[in-house]
Amino acid sequence: MSWIVRVLTEDSNLDSITTAAIMADCTGCAEVTDPAAPGSVTLMVGFDRRPEADDFAAGIDGATVEAADPSSWTRNEIAEVAHSSGILELEVGTAFGHGGHATTGLALAAIERLGVGEGRTLFDVGCGTGVLSIAAARQGFIVSGCDIDPDAVAISTRNADRNAVGEQTSFVCASPSQLATPAWLMRSTGFDVVVANTLIGVHEAEAHAISSLTASTAPIVVTGLQGQHQLERAVSAYESRIASKVTSDGDWILAVLSAP
Ligand SMILES: C[S@@+](CC[C@H](N)C(=O)[O-])C[C@H]1O[C@@H](n2cnc3c(N)ncnc32)[C@H](O)[C@@H]1O
Repeated sequence: MSWIVRVLTEDSNLDSITTAAIMADCTGCAEVTDPAAPGSVTLMVGFDRRPEADDFAAGIDGATVEAADPSSWTRNEIAEVAHSSGILELEVGTAFGHGGHATTGLALAAIERLGVGEGRTLFDVGCGTGVLSIAAARQGFIVSGCDIDPDAVAISTRNADRNAVGEQTSFVCASPSQLATPAWLMRSTGFDVVVANTLIGVHEAEAHAISSLTASTAPIVVTGLQGQHQLERAVSAYESRIASKVTSDGDWILAVLSAP
């Protein structure tokens, strides 16, 4: 059983509520707009456990909590995300990554700055809906994505097919630590680019594994960082690299970490 907190809010509140949902360890967010109610949006936030859903709802005016079948609650909603290659169409389901969050926007812009992939490999840590993987594949990268949420992996796989990049992408249900096995590392020279949009705690826990999966001179695009303090913590976690470019959107920060 999982739980949905349903919130009807103004567009201008969406970022702060989504941010609070991520900090509250939600399993995913999806938004539904109604053309008859411009300027407002219904945000649905998933939780695995009722107490967490109740705690989150308690902090938001008018929020309601309902039981949900995760296979059905938003599966039919398709988000559209602008990208230089054209619109990306994403089934959001219970996964994170409808494209509207600042961290996803920063990551999409960073991927666009990478230019044409020309067969380079890219690893997407915490793929969610696959939004970043699909954008990179559209630019010509060969992409592998991972997520610890099995629903996210299934949704990313379907979204890659929906956007005609299924053959350039593969998704696996695992954390980087689970993938960074000695046998795999001995056979591989590492990914040409890594993108990781996830919480600071995940960066800190996974930085060593992520670095070992990355080619030694390759950049790691790190985002999901909230505030300068989290940027400093991330730079310290990915200890052998330095921040070569930093971009931000409000309080959210992205850093491209490069080999010195
Ligand atoms: C902020 S969402 C990013 C989704 C998407 N990449 C985007 O940019 O919109 C973070 C994702 O990281 C996943 N995640 C959390 N811990 C993880 C871990 N240790 N390894 C892999 N994925 C993880 C979550 O399930 C979630 O889908």
